[in-house]
Amino acid sequence: MAPPFTTSAGAFLQSVLHPQGIQAERIWNLWNLTLVLCGAVFFLIVTVFLYVLWRAPRSTATTKADVHNQHSKRVHHIAIAWALGLSAAGLGSLFAVDMLTARQLSQLLPDDALRIDLTGHQWWWQATYLNSAGAPDFIVANELQLPVGRTVLINLRSDDVIHSLWIPALHGKLDLIPGRTATLRLRADAPGSYRGQCAEFCGEQHALMALLAIAKPAEQYEAWAVSQRRPAAPPQTESAKHGLRVFLSNGCASCHTIRGTAAAGTLGPDLTHLAARETLAAGMLPNQRGHLAGWIANARAIKPGVAMPPSTLTPNDLHSLLDFMETLR
Ligand code: CUA
Repeated sequence: MAPPFTTSAGAFLQSVLHPQGIQAERIWNLWNLTLVLCGAVFFLIVTVFLYVLWRAPRSTATTKADVHNQHSKRVHHIAIAWALGLSAAGLGSLFAVDMLTARQLSQLLPDDALRIDLTGHQWWWQATYLNSAGAPDFIVANELQLPVGRTVLINLRSDDVIHSLWIPALHGKLDLIPGRTATLRLRADAPGSYRGQCAEFCGEQHALMALLAIAKPAEQYEAWAVSQRRPAAPPQTESAKHGLRVFLSNGCASCHTIRGTAAAGTLGPDLTHLAARETLAAGMLPNQRGHLAGWIANARAIKPGVAMPPSTLTPNDLHSLLDFMETLR
């Protein structure tokens, strides 16, 4: 399927067939082996089946005579023994390689790994980047920027129901289960934009619970992390200043945080650097002024069931609010 839009990092990839990291590659190898082995079994079964059809006696009289023939009984037994042996060998080797792959996946070493706490919400992702001491560093929503070539440990938690993280180009699926923490280890080996998707039905907007993993060279990633750590810069223009007042006086701040301002709500996504993100509404919309305006005016018309209530802002207030939001880079 063609992507609905591309990002500044180029068209994004969402495919198990083009692994871009060591973990996805290991799964890809397992898949290839399974395909080859199962393909061979299928070919063998069809061949034997066609052969048997071709050799089948044409009249029932000879069939009865053949079945009671000692020789043909022995041939049947040998054929059954072979079939059982081959099946056991095939399934046994798939099982062994599967276990080996699972072992490899868990062995990606966490030396100097980047650690991220990723929490699933209905229907968006909250990523808390941790510093080297394990304390929260900064918070992002619906986007994971990752340094190429560095192991990333993602601790998965859920705030409500079961979700599942799946970024096919980087790793297989792993569930986010309320009350538990699961850890996904991955490493992006090539720069690029990799789309991930919630892979467990979690309610009305499950299909629109996406996130973008953007892998960058280490120095670009560090520059991004430095800018994310900063609080929001104070608005400069009169309109943007008014926009901040609109944000603080219309209930936005009771759900959203903008560090550097009085807004400290924790129910919705942290918006400190909203304008630096590629998408809005969990990967649903490109991050553009018109889409943001529509989202603020009536998010539920775009994504029925979301917690964000419609607003009753005047057009002037809305434009000022957008001017302010655009400064959150
Ligand atoms: Cu979250 Cu499906």
